[in-house]
Amino acid sequence: MPRKTTISLIKCDVGSLAGHYIVPQPLLSVAEKNLKAAAKEGLINAYYVFNAGDDLQLLMVHEKGESNPNVHKLAWDTFKEAADKALKLKLYGAGQDILKTAFSGNIRGMGPGVAEMEIEERGSDPIVVLAADKTSAGAFNFPLFRTFADPMNTAGLVIDPDMAGGFKFEVIDTMENKKVVLKSPEEMYELIALIGTVQRYMISHVWRARDDLICAAGSVTRLSQIAGKYVGKDDPVAIVRAQHGLPAVGEVLVPFMHSYLVEGWMRGSHWGPIMPVGMKDAKCTAFDGPPRLVALGLQIANGKIACDDDGKPMIADLFDDPAFDLARREAMEYASMLRRMGEFEPARLGPDEMEYTTLQQVLDKIKERFKSA
Ligand code: F6R
Ligand code: MG
Ligand code: MG
Repeated sequence: MPRKTTISLIKCDVGSLAGHYIVPQPLLSVAEKNLKAAAKEGLINAYYVFNAGDDLQLLMVHEKGESNPNVHKLAWDTFKEAADKALKLKLYGAGQDILKTAFSGNIRGMGPGVAEMEIEERGSDPIVVLAADKTSAGAFNFPLFRTFADPMNTAGLVIDPDMAGGFKFEVIDTMENKKVVLKSPEEMYELIALIGTVQRYMISHVWRARDDLICAAGSVTRLSQIAGKYVGKDDPVAIVRAQHGLPAVGEVLVPFMHSYLVEGWMRGSHWGPIMPVGMKDAKCTAFDGPPRLVALGLQIANGKIACDDDGKPMIADLFDDPAFDLARREAMEYASMLRRMGEFEPARLGPDEMEYTTLQQVLDKIKERFKSA
């Protein structure tokens, strides 16, 4: 029986330094302490704590399956403890993504974002983890489409017989809370019709069509939909499996050679250019951005993350590379163009998508002054 290993990536904005800039060391240390203890107890086999801007990211590898209440509780308790620490330190937005106070078995729907994938370990299993700040899950529709469906992006779709059957995409309708599976290439146009609407439809899973091998899992929460009003952030995460009959790591990364526009950025209310960065630059500055994206490469090995000689997980900081200088440069060019437009659409999101809006107050204030035109 091949080993079944689960990769859980759970993230939360628990509070940050200097506004919404970065998760500071004391909060990362809380996570490090708790995950280390959980690994010692045997709940998880391996972990890596990192940040994407102001989001605390818990990458955990274990054999307990997806939606495991104990693994989710570990994440929940860790976020609560880190948020308490943030509150004591008077850091900004302490506990901002924690919607409820009592844990009820699954962290989904409680504020934090979750991407999970249970895999049967192959001979060697390379994984790419994507984590973005100041944007939402629809930001991954475009690169996931390009990686798994676009033959101009992924050479393997054309020249690797193991990929010839194409891929299946599970798409969530976040407004209606429904999901549908579409198969590419046969239903590529229908797929694009949905996922091109990045504010509503989001890719949650991808499988290889010929054998249903799981290849990608993304977080697809819309906190505003859960809470009924704007409350916290949906900064997204995704786990992508690569190589040997799947897109190569390089084919997962090539969509990020160029910047593209995503919703989020300042006050979650603007279109902004995605900027792929190394972990040292995973921090948002200009206009609370531009939206940053990190990519971590790792190998799953015997229920753990492959480690170095000192037992530390080996993590490749994939965007820490001059190959992405062009995208970073483009991101700043697009950023300067968009900011020149100020609060005029399409630089600013349409009224239904803005996290903050004063439109109703403005209309209320001047309603008596409107005359028939
Ligand atoms: C966007 C984000 C920030 C804040 C902005 C205002 O996701 O977190 O851009 O929206 O800094 O924050 P407040 O209203 O907390 O001052
Ligand atoms: Mg924040
Ligand atoms: Mg964030």
